[in-house]
Amino acid sequence: MLTQEQNDLLTRVGAGTPMGELMRRYWHPIATVSELESEPTREVRLLGEDLVLYKDRSGNYGLIDRHCAHRRVNLAYGIPEENGLRCMYHGWLYDETGQCIEQPFEETVRPESRFKDKIKLSGYPVQELGGLLFAYLGPAPAPLLPRWEFLTLEHNVLRETFVTELPCNWLQCQENSLDPLHLEWLHGYYGAYMAEVKGDKAEAAAAYDVVARGRHKKIGFDPFEYGIIKRRTWGDYDEESDFWKVGHPILFPNILHQGNPGRYFLQFRTPIDDTHTMHLEYTIYIMPPWVEMPQQDTKDIPVNHWPLYDESGKLRSETILDQDQNVWVTQGPIMDRTLEKLGESDVGIIMFRKMLEEQARIVEDGGEPMNVFRDPEQNQCVRAPQEFMTHIQLDTDLDITARYNSQLRGHIAEWLEKAKETAPKLG
Ligand code: FES
Ligand SMILES: [Fe+2]
Repeated sequence: MLTQEQNDLLTRVGAGTPMGELMRRYWHPIATVSELESEPTREVRLLGEDLVLYKDRSGNYGLIDRHCAHRRVNLAYGIPEENGLRCMYHGWLYDETGQCIEQPFEETVRPESRFKDKIKLSGYPVQELGGLLFAYLGPAPAPLLPRWEFLTLEHNVLRETFVTELPCNWLQCQENSLDPLHLEWLHGYYGAYMAEVKGDKAEAAAAYDVVARGRHKKIGFDPFEYGIIKRRTWGDYDEESDFWKVGHPILFPNILHQGNPGRYFLQFRTPIDDTHTMHLEYTIYIMPPWVEMPQQDTKDIPVNHWPLYDESGKLRSETILDQDQNVWVTQGPIMDRTLEKLGESDVGIIMFRKMLEEQARIVEDGGEPMNVFRDPEQNQCVRAPQEFMTHIQLDTDLDITARYNSQLRGHIAEWLEKAKETAPKLG
C-alpha cells in the first residue's frame, strides 16, 4: 500500500514532476516509419505535451509544438516543405528545432524584419530504429537511442506492431510485467472460462486442464544492469527449465521483453499523459537460419490497430493481450494504490517501485539514471536474457497469428512452408 504522495510520485509524468523528469531521460516510440509514409504529418501527445510529428520533403523528421505560434492552429494540418513544416493558415514555416524560418507577408512588407528570429516552438529530436520512430523530450545532449537486440534484427525476420491507446496510467501496464502469477489466473483460468462462455467446450476443457497442471510454485526477481529479470517455476517446469534459469526481463523503465520460440516482442508502455498510455508491441518472428528471406523494408512493417472493446462496448478478454489490457484499464485511470493489499506474489512490484523511486532521485540530484546510453561501443546491440530464445518452430501452428489478426499471417505461413521444404535432414 502506498500513500497518496507516493502514488503521485510514481504515476505523474508532467514536466517538472519526479517521474516526468525521469521519463524525459529516455527515447519513446511515437509512430512507425510506415505511418509517416502514408501520411506525413501526425498528432502526437507524449508525456502530457501536444506535438506534431512530420516528415518533410527532404526526408527529415521533426517533432514540434502542435499549435502555430501565430494564431494557434493545429500544425498537423500543415504542409511539409523541402525543409520544415509550413502552417496552412498564413504560411509561417518552421524547421525541426521549432524555429520559425519564414513569415511570407512580414518579409514582404518589412524586408528588414527579424520578427521570425524571435519565434520558436519546442522542437524535439526524432530517430528511427527497426521501423519505429522515437522521440526524446529531455535535456540536451540527447543520449543514444538504445539498440535493443530485437530492434536491430533484420535478417530472416518478419516484424510487425500492435498498437492500442489505453485510458489508464502507464505504470499499471508495467507493474503487470512484474506479476508472474497472473499468467496462471488471468491468462490460464480466466482464459479457459472465456472459452467456456463462448461455448467452445473442447478449448475450455483443454485450457482448464493446462491450468490445473500449471500451478506456480516459486517466483524470483533479480535486478540486473538493464532492469529486473523475472523467473518462475510452474507446472512441470522446475529450476532446470529456461523459465527459471534464464527468465525474461523488464527493461527499465517501461518496456517488457518477452516471447516464445520464434516469436518475441518488446512492449513499450509510453505515457501519453497521466491517464493515457500508448501501448506498442513490436513483434519479431525469427525464421530458421537455413531460410534466405528477402529483407523486409522498414516501410513495410505493418501496424495492427488492436481494439480494446468488443461490439457490445465491453473490454475484450479473448487473447492474452486483451486480458492484460482489460485488467490495466479496469484498475482505473490512475490506480488508487492507497487501497491495495499486497501479498507474497507482489515482491517484484515492490522491487520495481523502489527502483523507480531511486532512479527518479538520481535524476533530481543531477545524475544519469540507468539505461541511458552514451557509449556507441556499448550500444551496437544491447542484448538482454530471454528464455527459449531460438528460431520459429516448424510445427508452429499459426493460431496465434490468426487470433491476433496479424497482417503477416500469410507471409509467415509461406515462409514456414519454404523452411519445411528446405530443412536440413537429420542424420
Ligand atoms: S496561424 Fe499559423 S501562420 Fe498564421
Ligand atoms: Fe499478461
